[in-house]
Amino acid sequence: MYLVTGATGTIGSQVVAQLLAAGHAVRAYVRSPSKLAQWGERIEVAVGDYDTPDAFSAALDGVEGVFLMNIDSAEAFGKLAARAASAHIARAVMLSTSMIEFLPDTMLARAHREKEDILTAAGLDARFVRPTGFMSNAYFWIPSVRANGVVANPMGTGRAAPIAPEDIAAVAVRALTDATLKEKVLTVTGGELISLPEQVELLAQALDRPLRCTDITLDEAIENFTRIGVPQPVAASVAKSYEAVKAGRATHVTDTVERLLGRKPLRFEQWVKAHIDRFR
Ligand SMILES: NC(=O)c1ccc[n+]([C@@H]2O[C@H](COP(=O)([O-])OP(=O)(O)OC[C@H]3O[C@@H](n4cnc5c(N)ncnc54)[C@H](OP(=O)(O)O)[C@@H]3O)[C@@H](O)[C@H]2O)c1
Repeated sequence: MYLVTGATGTIGSQVVAQLLAAGHAVRAYVRSPSKLAQWGERIEVAVGDYDTPDAFSAALDGVEGVFLMNIDSAEAFGKLAARAASAHIARAVMLSTSMIEFLPDTMLARAHREKEDILTAAGLDARFVRPTGFMSNAYFWIPSVRANGVVANPMGTGRAAPIAPEDIAAVAVRALTDATLKEKVLTVTGGELISLPEQVELLAQALDRPLRCTDITLDEAIENFTRIGVPQPVAASVAKSYEAVKAGRATHVTDTVERLLGRKPLRFEQWVKAHIDRFR
């Protein structure tokens, strides 16, 4: 049995799907069970929040491994880590960020690093999945793509190696289920360097209609995020990663996906075709 937090989110929902597909039993730890209706009887549901450690302890019953997100305060996270350690959970996998390695002085890097350290200090066999930017960040473009075929671009023609949520989840599932895996830090990137305008062109081809990019400043990107409810420090941290991409300082590519999964990471073209209905 594997316990999945963030099971209604981008990566957690993929972790649930892939654990089930591999024949594992899954329990989702969620605040709103109604959001899990799609899974029906195929998963167990435990109701709780990151700041309800007693509910979390109950959800750990009979669990082999737990998938954790960087949610809530370090204090709340520390309580969950302690509960997992005292329940003798065999493995914990945390969805972290590659910013720890590539932009360590940002707020997002520090917040994830703090949680990683908490898990290690708790004495858990913890594995950290550190992805680059998700390909699914392209979903932020949907309103303007639908409205006028325009995508705001704060990254110029700088290239980076975004990764598909499916690949992040596949690495997380391997880390959760393989007791023999020695690596604790799994830095995962896509396999190709691609700019935002190149991604938009691939989206345009898949939609079979023209799209265009319009350049925006980092301040405008921050404003766009805060307008949709992203906290200012998070938006400012994400803008730092845009700045690095624009300046050609985010070109790292790892072989983690290929090494662990025995196949190449999904290319943006493949990912966008698989999810094209969301953009129509
Ligand atoms: N986007 C990127 O390019 C990128 C790159 C590298 C790393 N990351 C990292 O990836 C993580 C985000 O992953 P994601 O996109 O899969 O997340 P997401 O889609 O935003 O989902 C967040 C999940 O966490 C749950 N949640 C939020 N607060 C909670 C709480 N207090 N207690 C219990 N559950 C709670 C949400 O449940 P509800 O449905 O109840 O809200 C949801 O299931 C972040 O740590 C981010 O820094 C992102």
